[in-house]
Amino acid sequence: MGDATQNDSKVVVRGLGKVFERKGDGLVVLDQVDLTIAAGEFVCLLGPSGCGKSTLLNIIGGFEKPTVGSVTIDGAPVVGPDPRRVFVFQEYGVFPWASVWDNIAIGLRHLPRAERDARIHRYVELIGLEGFEKTYSSELSGGMRQRVAVARALAVSPDVILMDEPLGALDSLTRFQMRTEILRLWQKERMTILFVTHDVDESVQLADRVVVMSPRPGRIAAVVPIDMPHPRELGSPAYAALKTKLYELLSVTHAV
Ligand SMILES: Nc1ncnc2c1ncn2[C@@H]1O[C@H](COP(=O)(O)OP(=O)(O)OP(=O)(O)O)[C@@H](O)[C@H]1O
Ligand SMILES: [Mg+2]
Repeated sequence: MGDATQNDSKVVVRGLGKVFERKGDGLVVLDQVDLTIAAGEFVCLLGPSGCGKSTLLNIIGGFEKPTVGSVTIDGAPVVGPDPRRVFVFQEYGVFPWASVWDNIAIGLRHLPRAERDARIHRYVELIGLEGFEKTYSSELSGGMRQRVAVARALAVSPDVILMDEPLGALDSLTRFQMRTEILRLWQKERMTILFVTHDVDESVQLADRVVVMSPRPGRIAAVVPIDMPHPRELGSPAYAALKTKLYELLSVTHAV
C-alpha cells in the first residue's frame, strides 16, 4: 500500500523536523518525517513515550510550528488551527464549568436549534451519558470526561480529526466500545483520522496503516498496512501476526 497516491492525498508532511530550544542546546524531537495520508484514511501513529507523537500531531494541527519542513492539507500549507480539523487532546479538553450538553454543543452553534439538539442527543447516547446531560464536567469521572471530549470532536463532522490517545484514561471495556463507535462513525462519514496511541492492539483494530515511530529523534521507523476488513476478527491468526510484527518493530526501535 505504502504512501497515498498524489491524487487523493489529504495530509502531506514533507521533510519535517522539530527542535525544541533548551538552555545551551536544542532537543531534536522530530527528524526527517515524511508522511502522506489519503482522504478518508485512518492512520495510527504508534511509538514509545516521548518519541514525538504529540509534537507531530500538534504540528499537523497547526498548534506548533515545525523547525524545518512543511505540512499541507488539501494542498494548502497549515499555518494555524482550523475549525475543519478537530483535535482530541491527550489530557482532557472539556470545560469543567460547562455541562456535558454544553460541552458537546460548543462547535455546533451555527446549526438550527432542532438539528443541533438532535445531534447533541445522538452523541450523548453514543457515549452512554444519557441522564448526565446537565451534569458539570467537573462532576464526572475521568473516563466520562474523556468520552465527552471524543463526542464533542465527532459531533462537528470534521474533515480531519487528530486524536492524541483519546481513549487512554478509559477502562478496557469502555475503551473497546469507544473504538467500535469511532470505527462505525468513520465508516459512515469517512473523515480522515490520525490517531496517536502506544497500544499495539488498538492500532491493529483501528488503522488502515500503522506508522511506527522510533524515539530520539522521532523518525518513522516503519509503515505497516493493516489489510483486514472491519469488523476485524480480533482472535484471528492474521491479527495476531500483525501484533507480533508491531511489537517486534517497537522493541527494535526501543533498543536503539
Ligand atoms: N513545548 C515543549 N518544549 C520543550 N520540549 C518539549 C515540548 N513538547 C515536547 N517536548 C519534548 O519533546 C519530546 C517528545 O514529546 P511528545 O509529547 O511529542 O512525545 P509523545 O510521543 O507524545 O509521548 P507520550 O507517549 O508520552 O505522550 C519529549 O522529550 C518532550 O520532553
Ligand atoms: Mg503524547
